[in-house]
Amino acid sequence: ENEPYSSKLRVPEALTFDDVLLRPKESRVEPDEADLRSRVSKNVEVSVPILSAAMDTVTESDLATAMARHGGLGVLHRNMNIDQMVESITQVKRADELIIPFEDVVTADPEMSVRAADEMMVRKGVGGAPVVNTNGEVLGIISSTDIRPHLEVGENDPVTAAMTDEVITAPQDIDARDAFDLMYEHKIERVPVVDDENLLVGLVTMQGILQRREYKEAARDEDGRLRCGVAVGPFETDRATAADEAGADVLFIDCAHAHNLNVIDGAREIKESVDADVVVGNVGTREAAEDLVGFADGIKVGIGPGSICTTRVVSGAGMPQITAVSQVADVASENDVPVIADGGIRYSGDAIKAIAAGADAVMLGSYFAGTDEAPGRVVTMNGKRYKQYRGMGSVGAMKSGDGDRYLKDDPEDDEEYVPEGVEAATPYKGTLESELHQLAGGMQSGMGYVGAETIPEFKSRAEFVRVSAAGQAEGHAHDVVITDEAPNYSPQE
Ligand code: XMP
Repeated sequence: ENEPYSSKLRVPEALTFDDVLLRPKESRVEPDEADLRSRVSKNVEVSVPILSAAMDTVTESDLATAMARHGGLGVLHRNMNIDQMVESITQVKRADELIIPFEDVVTADPEMSVRAADEMMVRKGVGGAPVVNTNGEVLGIISSTDIRPHLEVGENDPVTAAMTDEVITAPQDIDARDAFDLMYEHKIERVPVVDDENLLVGLVTMQGILQRREYKEAARDEDGRLRCGVAVGPFETDRATAADEAGADVLFIDCAHAHNLNVIDGAREIKESVDADVVVGNVGTREAAEDLVGFADGIKVGIGPGSICTTRVVSGAGMPQITAVSQVADVASENDVPVIADGGIRYSGDAIKAIAAGADAVMLGSYFAGTDEAPGRVVTMNGKRYKQYRGMGSVGAMKSGDGDRYLKDDPEDDEEYVPEGVEAATPYKGTLESELHQLAGGMQSGMGYVGAETIPEFKSRAEFVRVSAAGQAEGHAHDVVITDEAPNYSPQE
């Protein structure tokens, strides 16, 4: 019972990314052949095991759309109200939808003049529109090609005078292949989708089909829509049900300390009220994993590793990430629950080390915050370009959302915030696609060195060696002055 205090100092060791390296092994695997497919939660697969962080300087609908198109998953942040969240989820889910649903289709009504239809189409950025009467029946289809010459002969004529009235339509169950063939055969760009009574229910466009083909590896749901994740607070049942109804694929219970028993109760309640998968985090120990595996569809790991996190220095608590991931993965893997390693990943090598330690996927914030698709604008300081990046526990982020991620009430006075994160700038990086390409390519290289073709094979085959400080310095560029920036490496500060 009364252990001497000094026994507390017989402490276990905990390691992080720089403490370990993957031991090279016999291999016949070329990196390009390494298959990165994995799971982020029990029912959601991805082509690349990479997620973007639920942070207000990282993931909104543009970045989430790009993540899913390139095979990963974006997790929308929760510093927005529920309506904005629903709108963001809808934007992602509809981005590459085969059939544009009725409410989003730009239509012309038969009494509209040719001039008015032209102006409307320009304003809405579409090249054509079904002409529909008040009952929703499709009378024809008008395109800018029909309109342009007609503007000369009668711009005030009704749109029915210029439209094509022999409309090719498609049934509601049409698939991408048949829609393509139909449009190709008739040399048309768009096909109204109608129900049995010829009422308009949606529209398929050639542009939409070609766009979908471009993203072969996209993470899609059973209906072919892009996957979308969203963060919800542990006590935000309304937000959770709204996200679920809007079609989110995975809800991420977003908390800095999910081994808080009230948080677990809240998370369990949310899990019982939604259809989407529910990932719970963050945690960093075996015991926390044991409390979550009974109901969570995934567990997210990370207590203080993040680049903008100050949790460990502010609270004195935390867990070096490689050890945290391995402990959680011991318990989670026995229960077939996927694990996500969240935070602290600076290089592709860190990401694949996290997988070797037992994670099924990784989540990154700073890595993506500098991309075009992340929110915020590019600023120039001392001739270099940056974008804003801030912790969700920083004063600025807590002021525009709330502090419950850190289990704190919002104070009356700004000075009373006790932040666990900082507000910063991160180098501007260009497109998300090129960042993801480097990250995924580096992870495949790691699989090649270990001789594993798939993620499950890699997880069981990978072994670590411990690295000394000298070994670590040896691994970085050293004794040289870098003359050209590499796309996947900048020296540590
Ligand atoms: P990286 O290293 O990828 O980390 O930038 C992103 C992850 O950091 C967590 N996060 C925070 N942790 N204080 C913290 O202690 C914060 O203000 C904060 N904001 C984000 C979060 O898990 C994210 O995915």
